Amino acid sequence: MGPLLGRRAKNAAQSARASRIAVAIVIGILVGGIFAFLYPHGLFSWDHASQFKGGRLTKSIIQIGSTLCESSERISMLKSDIADLSSKNLELKKHNTELTAKLKAAEQKNNDEYEVMVVDELQKAGPFGSVKGIRTNSIVLPDDTINPRLSKILKKIAVQNELIVALANSNVKSMLEIWFTSIKKLGMPNYLVVALDDQTVDFCKENGVPFYKRDPDEGFDSIAKTGSNHAVSGLKFRILREFLQLGYSVLLSDVDIVYIQNPFEHIYRDSDVESMSDGHNNMTAYGFNDVFDDPSMGWARYAHTMRIWVYNSGFFYIRPTLPAIELLDRVAERLSQRLPAWDQAVFNEELFFPSYPGYIGLHASKRTMDRYLFMNSKVLFKEVRKDGKLKKLKPVVVHVNYHPDKLPRMIAVVEFYCNGKEDALESFPDGSDW
Ligand SMILES: *[C@@H]1O[C@H](CO)[C@@H](O)[C@H](O)[C@H]1NC(C)=O
Repeated sequence: MGPLLGRRAKNAAQSARASRIAVAIVIGILVGGIFAFLYPHGLFSWDHASQFKGGRLTKSIIQIGSTLCESSERISMLKSDIADLSSKNLELKKHNTELTAKLKAAEQKNNDEYEVMVVDELQKAGPFGSVKGIRTNSIVLPDDTINPRLSKILKKIAVQNELIVALANSNVKSMLEIWFTSIKKLGMPNYLVVALDDQTVDFCKENGVPFYKRDPDEGFDSIAKTGSNHAVSGLKFRILREFLQLGYSVLLSDVDIVYIQNPFEHIYRDSDVESMSDGHNNMTAYGFNDVFDDPSMGWARYAHTMRIWVYNSGFFYIRPTLPAIELLDRVAERLSQRLPAWDQAVFNEELFFPSYPGYIGLHASKRTMDRYLFMNSKVLFKEVRKDGKLKKLKPVVVHVNYHPDKLPRMIAVVEFYCNGKEDALESFPDGSDW
């Protein structure tokens, strides 16, 4: 909202300035007119002229007339002057009305242009405990022209302007198969594979999986095929931007994820970004006060710090809002610089760091997903599978993000949660053996 608010403020300032200029012109012409008519008669000193500053012309002239002029000749002359001035005044008033109308029209045009960012009227704060800031930013006006072909696909498959999106090339074919098979089982139509190569297109076609392949002239495909991991990660954020520009909310999904329930039934939709956490307990997932100790400071040895484990940039729900799009742009921009950067670290830094001297922070609203419903594989293998009660919980998704042996663990997750094979998870070590 920031930049647009700024623009609105600028428009308002411009209008105000225009009004002030118009008023100044009117006053200038009137004062000039009075001098032209009255000064040659030698009736007015500079002192008297200064009485016109308030702009209440007729009244001032009558006062001046009654104090300075005795003869009837003078009075009738003044009367004719006043009549003359009144008619000029009327003309100017008419002109002024026209100017005001023009200004209003210009303002209206500006308002129409920035229709999406209706700024709330000023309101009182309300009683203690009753006030809430804005988390749920308004969505952007969809713009089909930025990618008509994608727009057509999304109109067909999205449900209530939402869909799951995954990027895939042929290297992840086996995982992709488990991924879409688990989604199909839930009967969901609103998912899409962004195919980064022809083999993936063919694979999707064979399996009746909705896919989208970017045009070769869109400049991304060379990155997709030959680019480093980081370059491909940057690509993800650029592609995602178009979905948002088209007005869709996206559940961005890696392919090392098994779907056990329909995720859209467990999304809050109140934040710009709603993300799975890499945390392994409540503190690390939801944030905590980490006390730093510096004994040399004696009385003030404890410094309190804010900590939270990173959001997983391989599974998040993002709404089509300006802060959300700004986030994608910032991440893509930083990943395009040739310095090595991990997309997940960049994603989190942009999302969480505040403004400070020399830096303007992003101001996006965020929500951490329930760590048992949107479960990472550390939680599953270190905690849940060993706990009789937690084992009975049914997650929405399991993301095998913490383990390199992704495929066998994904298969085990399917066996355990979907096929009722109770010992399916047992053979795996907690972590990898390196
Ligand atoms: C962890 O967080 C959840 C969600 O807020 C809460 O329901 C649960 O009681 C918390 N567990 C512990 C041990 O604090």
